[in-house]
Amino acid sequence: MEVVIVKDAKAGGELIADGIADLLRRKPDALLGVATGSTPLPIYDALIAQVSAGSVDASRARIAQLDEYVGLPSGHPESYRSTVLRQVVEPLGLSPEAFMGPDGSAEDVLAACEAYDRALSEAGGVDLQILGIGTDGHIGFNEPCSSLASRTRIKTLTEQTRVDNARFFDNDIEQVPHHVITQGIGTILEARHLVLLATGEGKAEAVAQTVEGPVAALVPASALQLHPHATVVVDEAAASKLKLADYFRHTFANKPAWQGI
Ligand code: PGA
Repeated sequence: MEVVIVKDAKAGGELIADGIADLLRRKPDALLGVATGSTPLPIYDALIAQVSAGSVDASRARIAQLDEYVGLPSGHPESYRSTVLRQVVEPLGLSPEAFMGPDGSAEDVLAACEAYDRALSEAGGVDLQILGIGTDGHIGFNEPCSSLASRTRIKTLTEQTRVDNARFFDNDIEQVPHHVITQGIGTILEARHLVLLATGEGKAEAVAQTVEGPVAALVPASALQLHPHATVVVDEAAASKLKLADYFRHTFANKPAWQGI
């Protein structure tokens, strides 16, 4: 696992956007797995700036969603489909056809989960998956004790995650759905490169357990230890509980070891 400690969220976003730009130069129709939440926004800002400046062409990029709420009416502004369209697909100038995600308003949610898992494989698999991390160590919406071999499926959110996400729903936890569709941990591990960004002190414990703790379903993000190419980008605050922080600074601060993400 490559652990890159950066000054702040903006630096983390720029670094990962550089990695995505490199990927798009190598593979213009790369399938990018995108995450929602606050953390990845600096990545999208930096990538959109590079595209606007003409330093990278993203016109053939394809975008895949990581997870989705179940039961929000189609077109709800806080559905992850609407969020990804607004934050990534439209600003990059991509058409909605370049974008795939699970159908959280399907009548048969189980079939929708299976269909999305299959669609990801049929699309050739995700080339680079952006991940955030929950304060409880979740990736996607794989909450603690998710099977490390899980596929795309329906999950029930923990109270902690609903509290964390209430800020997107007028700070009213009652409006936060209880159920979600999420790519499983097994599904996520099939992406060719996993890039997790974590910023802020609130993520420090989850980051330490992910990077330095045992691989355990209790900390779903620790499954990244099983992936042959996982990059964890953290700001100083999120790195504050890493025992090996100095080693990581020494090893990964100067790009070459992890360049080419
Ligand atoms: P956040 O969410 O980026 O809004 O903190 C991360 C997550 O829940 O995966």
